[in-house]
Amino acid sequence: MSAIHHIAIAVHNLDAALAFYRDALGLGMTERREVPEEGVEIAFLPAGEGEIELLQPLSEGGGVARFLEKRGEGLHHICLQVDDIEAAMERLRSAGARLLSEEPRVGTSGTRYVFVHPKSAHGVLLELYEVAE
Ligand code: CO
Repeated sequence: MSAIHHIAIAVHNLDAALAFYRDALGLGMTERREVPEEGVEIAFLPAGEGEIELLQPLSEGGGVARFLEKRGEGLHHICLQVDDIEAAMERLRSAGARLLSEEPRVGTSGTRYVFVHPKSAHGVLLELYEVAE
């Protein structure tokens, strides 16, 4: 376990959220793109060692859209960077934790990631990242 990689916040409108986090707060934005396979548009804003990820649903019915309906805007997940995602998944499984996918998923930059169910992580959706070399 090496660092908090990012903290993700679910928002209704990315432009409105950027008006706060980027323009008013003064964070830089390194990336903004749609992730159709996750049903979201995301923006990354580095803050020191970690980053803030803003998540806006692309359509009704996805996980983030349901989250917003139920709970409104707010903290969606915390992402920890790990050196070896398979080893981390194996440890969690043997501890009885519930993972949201059997295998690590692969992001566009080659990052491998998996989500841990909030019930296993005491109320917080947890993401694990293994950053590509
Ligand atoms: Co994330």
